[in-house]
Amino acid sequence: MTSISKPVLLLLLVFSLSIDSSAQQNHSNVINLGSSLSPSANHTSWLSPSGLFAFGFYQQGDGFLIGIWLIHQTEKTIIWTANRDDPPVSSNASLDLTRDGKLLLKIEQGVEKLIPQMPDPSPVVSAAMLDSGNFVLYGNDFSVIWESFDFPTDTILGGQNLSSGYKLVSSVSTSDQSSGRFFLQMQKDGNLVGYPVNSSAESDDAYWSSNTPNSGLNVQLILSHIGILFLGGGDLREHILANSSYPSKNRTAIHRATLDADGIFRLYLHRFESSNGSDVLREWSALSNLCEVKGICGFNSYCSGMGNKDVCKCYPGFHFINASKKFLGCYKNSSDDDCRRSKHPSILYSIVPLENMGWSDYPYSVVQMEKEDCCKSCLEDCNCGAVLYTGDECTKFKLPLRYGRVSENFSYTAFFKVIRDDLRIPLPDHNPSLAPTVLTESKRSLILILSISLGSISGFCFIFAIYSFFRYRRQLFRYRRLLGNANLGLTEEITLRLFSYSELEKATDDFKEELGRGSFGAVYKGTISEGNKAIAVKRLEKVVEEGQREFRAEMTAIARTHHRNLIRLLGFCIEGSRKLLVYEFMSNGSLADLLFKAEMRPIWKERVRIALDVAKGILYLHEECEVHIIHCNIKPQNILLDDTWTAKISDFGLAKLLVPNQSRTTMGIEAKVGYLAPEWQKNVLVSVKADTYSFGIVLLEIVCCRSSIEINVPTADEIILSTWVYNCYMAGELDKLVEDENVDIMALERMVKVGLWCIQEDPALRPSMKSVILMLEGTMNIPVPPSPVLI
Ligand SMILES: *[C@@H]1O[C@H](CO)[C@@H](O)[C@H](O)[C@H]1NC(C)=O
Ligand SMILES: *[C@@H]1O[C@H](CO)[C@@H](O)[C@H](O)[C@H]1NC(C)=O
Ligand SMILES: *[C@@H]1O[C@H](CO)[C@@H](O)[C@H](O)[C@H]1NC(C)=O
Ligand SMILES: *[C@@H]1O[C@H](CO)[C@@H](O)[C@H](O)[C@H]1NC(C)=O
Ligand SMILES: *[C@@H]1O[C@H](CO)[C@@H](O)[C@H](O)[C@H]1NC(C)=O
Ligand SMILES: *[C@@H]1O[C@H](CO)[C@@H](O)[C@H](O)[C@H]1NC(C)=O
Ligand SMILES: *[C@@H]1O[C@H](CO)[C@@H](O)[C@H](O)[C@H]1NC(C)=O
Ligand SMILES: *[C@@H]1O[C@H](CO)[C@@H](O)[C@H](O)[C@H]1NC(C)=O
Ligand SMILES: *[C@@H]1O[C@H](CO)[C@@H](O)[C@H](O)[C@H]1NC(C)=O
Ligand SMILES: *[C@@H]1O[C@H](CO)[C@@H](O)[C@H](O)[C@H]1NC(C)=O
Ligand SMILES: *[C@@H]1O[C@H](CO)[C@@H](O)[C@H](O)[C@H]1NC(C)=O
Repeated sequence: MTSISKPVLLLLLVFSLSIDSSAQQNHSNVINLGSSLSPSANHTSWLSPSGLFAFGFYQQGDGFLIGIWLIHQTEKTIIWTANRDDPPVSSNASLDLTRDGKLLLKIEQGVEKLIPQMPDPSPVVSAAMLDSGNFVLYGNDFSVIWESFDFPTDTILGGQNLSSGYKLVSSVSTSDQSSGRFFLQMQKDGNLVGYPVNSSAESDDAYWSSNTPNSGLNVQLILSHIGILFLGGGDLREHILANSSYPSKNRTAIHRATLDADGIFRLYLHRFESSNGSDVLREWSALSNLCEVKGICGFNSYCSGMGNKDVCKCYPGFHFINASKKFLGCYKNSSDDDCRRSKHPSILYSIVPLENMGWSDYPYSVVQMEKEDCCKSCLEDCNCGAVLYTGDECTKFKLPLRYGRVSENFSYTAFFKVIRDDLRIPLPDHNPSLAPTVLTESKRSLILILSISLGSISGFCFIFAIYSFFRYRRQLFRYRRLLGNANLGLTEEITLRLFSYSELEKATDDFKEELGRGSFGAVYKGTISEGNKAIAVKRLEKVVEEGQREFRAEMTAIARTHHRNLIRLLGFCIEGSRKLLVYEFMSNGSLADLLFKAEMRPIWKERVRIALDVAKGILYLHEECEVHIIHCNIKPQNILLDDTWTAKISDFGLAKLLVPNQSRTTMGIEAKVGYLAPEWQKNVLVSVKADTYSFGIVLLEIVCCRSSIEINVPTADEIILSTWVYNCYMAGELDKLVEDENVDIMALERMVKVGLWCIQEDPALRPSMKSVILMLEGTMNIPVPPSPVLI
């Protein structure tokens, strides 16, 4: 074998291939004008000189698609497909490289399509299927007009790269190359990340990454000819993901990195050894366990096991949407109407536990309580689809649930609410002592037998009834004491006070002194008798009409936020449609007053401290509190100052709790133009990065002590603050921004750079609030910001 020289081997290879190919193929490298292919003709494809790659029609189902594939494989390996989501064409179609220089797909009489679909391509002079697997269209002087390497689908080959901002999208399956369920994005921040399609591509959706965030612009994923898969460019030298053990210098091997249909990125080696034909080796997998791929199972189903088949299972009480396509997820065919109509919803359901469960959705409520109380609180709450009990905390979730997974490494137990058709009749009605117990399948039947026996043994029944009555009374009393009239699942631990409307009327002297007007309604000053404490009462006027339960759930979430830079909610009032919130009173007004209305600019040091305060408050909302919250309306009017001039953020949590697929909220905010991130205007999901944008604008306002849009300025280019700041920064004239104050120039430059990074058009480029704080404090280097959104 080793004695055979390279050209001989190649010749042998080509020879054997040409014999094997079913159709007579043209091996000439250059494809001239006037050539054509058709599935029904002698020429169905153009081969590369080595005979390893073909470009042309391949069969899919009853029809044909145009693509590039590796030939001489036991299993067809398609590298690239043109217009992959178009329907296959019939065998009557043809692909012509026309005399006037176009590559035209003629589907049927009169219907033609340009390949590639470019708006105004220059005329093609020739084309070639290269040995690298790249199909190229040439113009005059062999200039490249178009090449398939620039538009990868799910695969890159040796010598190909995936540029910053580009992505690979998995195929539906190996036999269907249309767009599938996962994508791998070469992000502009230098991280290569896998996400399910249709997710908002936030960090919570990511299931794999190269772990190279913030490594600079223009990082590329590159697969070298010798089979090294690495990230290069930007600030990275070479971040190696995989190193093939089998270098392919002599072209008897082809390396291929594919985002497979199951969402796992893998490196393959195709070997072409003498007359043996070829084989495929899997050289590297980004993940070994299919269950680590988020979205591998659809809504309301979970992934279990390590195997490759049937990993998706429905949660208790759910059924597969299509039992032959289990990954599509599951549904529940009972509606919540029964729950909402029933006075005692808990009686309708039983609870089924599932051990070692985990998922990464956001709960709408997190409260510390015992396991039994946790299940009980879910049974009584019609919003609750399931709870995850973490050992001391009860986290309640709405349906549908995503990204569920069972693993021995998870110690949480999930409890699911399952409608109990079987128990509805025999169970003694309105007996709260029975219903809220944790029921497994076996316990259920036990209770069924028990309840039937109960009917006949009347004496026992009598004692039992008395016992339950007293137990019920005791529980009722406990709940009443807790919160007025309803059992909300709130525990004593949360010290929220429930006010009556008349009490607040009295406290505010019939809503006499209006402090201000926010997006949700007016705020009034008041005093409560206990301790003669000053309060601010917000009367909600424009909130979305929602049930008492939802409102209380949100209050619970807000009440659980404790941070120095967030305003404290003391209590609330809900009486019919009247909804009021009671906050601590902030004696020094808002940041807007301080920056824009005060006679004197606050001193530089104070402004730096306030900026950090605000950033810390937002970081807490985004990352540190139990229920992550997007504020959606950061502006100086919503930042208040207490008597020690500590900045505190208000109005948070009202927008909507961060529920991933609802984060584009309907919350009727009238967030002020100027602070709104550009994505609000587009029809895309809004993320925490929208707050980062607003913070950036506020930061620049703090630096310059002026509003983001100001008409009364010396020159027109100062009207828009962000434009002016960017221009000053680029011109090295930052001192213009702060007049002749005594400022720390280093801190000023840091604040301006952070501000400019925060207001980038692309949310992915904006730093996280954690990075913002590190950068403001000077512990993290700040690269030169690119031009922000210029209005
Ligand atoms: C191709 O490379 C393999 C492994 O590096 C080697 O064994 C083989 O002899 C080479 N073939 C030729 C024709 O050089
Ligand atoms: C192969 O292609 C060349 C150039 O396009 C053409 O001249 C030649 O006739 C073709 N050979 C066959 C067998 O079709
Ligand atoms: C295919 O080639 C054969 C011989 O080269 C020829 O007789 C036949 O007509 C061709 N068929 C088509 C559809 O061009
Ligand atoms: C191909 O064209 C012929 C003649 O025009 C027609 O009879 C036949 O139905 C077409 N086949 C397909 C699959 O469209
Ligand atoms: C990446 O690919 C493009 C197009 O194929 C090529 O122009 C560029 O040089 C490649 N970059 C690297 C670093 O290989
Ligand atoms: C993604 O969303 C589109 C439109 O809503 C839908 O047609 C498609 O099936 C979804 N894809 C997946 C994989 O869920
Ligand atoms: C890849 O692995 C080979 C041996 O397995 C080693 O010689 C080579 O240096 C490695 N390449 C890189 C870039 O690490
Ligand atoms: C060819 O195949 C045989 C049996 O499948 C195997 O033993 C042999 O090593 C192969 N030769 C090469 C060069 O791969
Ligand atoms: C389920 O999927 C199979 C396979 O794709 C399909 O044939 C069938 O029609 C689907 N059933 C339903 C109810 O959608
Ligand atoms: C729910 O669906 C399952 C399976 O599709 C069926 O067996 C059951 O009867 C349905 N239940 C109701 C209440 O429709
Ligand atoms: C559990 O964790 C260990 C160590 O991190 C890992 O090796 C193992 O694969 C994990 N098991 C599952 C089912 O994920």
